[in-house]
Amino acid sequence: MTRSVDDGHPREDEGAGERFFRETRHARGRLGGGWLDWENQPPPFKTYPGAEQVALPEPAPAKADLWEALARRRSVRSFSSGPISLSDLATLLWAGAGVSTVQAGYALRTAPSAGALYPVETYVVAHRVQGLDAGAYHYAVLERSLERIVAGDLSVPVARAALDQGMARDAAAVFVWSAIWRRSIWKYGQRAFRYVPLDAGHIAENVALATAALGLGCCQIAAFYDDEADALIQVDGREESVVYMAVVGRPG
Ligand SMILES: Cc1cc2nc3c(=O)[nH]c(=O)nc-3n(C[C@H](O)[C@H](O)[C@H](O)COP(=O)(O)O)c2cc1C
Repeated sequence: MTRSVDDGHPREDEGAGERFFRETRHARGRLGGGWLDWENQPPPFKTYPGAEQVALPEPAPAKADLWEALARRRSVRSFSSGPISLSDLATLLWAGAGVSTVQAGYALRTAPSAGALYPVETYVVAHRVQGLDAGAYHYAVLERSLERIVAGDLSVPVARAALDQGMARDAAAVFVWSAIWRRSIWKYGQRAFRYVPLDAGHIAENVALATAALGLGCCQIAAFYDDEADALIQVDGREESVVYMAVVGRPG
C-alpha cells in the first residue's frame, strides 16, 4: 500500500532530510505549542565585548530601480583585484540585516524573519575593503558597526572552507551567515530548522539585489565544509553554525 508522506510513518528508504520534513510537518489538529517561556527567551543580539569596533559609514543606497536590479542580478564568480568601498560594504550589510524601523519595541529589519526572532547573524570576511583591515568581522546590527573577531588575510582559508571555490579567495569580501538556532527553537521547536534557512535566504537575496544596484557582483555559496566554515568565524557548529555565504566584489 502506498502511504502519503504525512501519515506519520517513515518510508523504508527514508533519508535524514525526508525524516526531518516528515517529523516537522504541521497538520491540522496536531499543532502543539502556544506557550512561550518569556523569561528564558534567548537574547536577540550577539555581542563581542572587548572586540575592536569599526564604525561603519551611513548606508548609501544607490538610486536604483528595483525591476532593473531584479533583471540584472546574476551570479558573478569572477572578480577584478579592485577593492570595494567601506560605504558599499556598509550599504550591503544594511540591505541584508539592517534595522529599518522600530515598532512596539521590535527592531524590524530590511528582511523578514519568522516571528521577528532574527536567528541569523551576519559576518564578513574582508579581503579588500578600503579602510578596513583584512580579517573576519561580526556585524553589530544595532550599533551598525563591525566587531573584529580575527585579524589577517583569510582569503585562502575561506576559499578552502567553501569547497575550494576560488571565487571566495578572489572576491573583495565574503559574507558568512550563521544561525543561532535557539532563538527560533524557543518559539517553533524543531520546525525552526525549516524557518531559519528561509530567513537566511531572504537576507542573502537582499544583499544580491543590493550588489546589482551598486554595480557589484555577488554569488551565493551553500557548498562549504561546515567545520571549516564554523571555525573561520569561531562558532561551535552546534549552538551557532554557518548556514550560507556570499562572495562580493567588482566583476572582472
Ligand atoms: C542555495 C544556493 C546555493 C548556491 N551555492 C553555490 C555555490 O556553492 N557555488 C556556486 O558557484 N554557486 C552557487 N549558487 C548559485 C547558483 O548556482 C545560481 O544561482 C544558479 O546557477 C542560477 O544562476 P543566477 O544566480 O545567475 O541566476 C547557489 C545558489 C543558491 C540559491
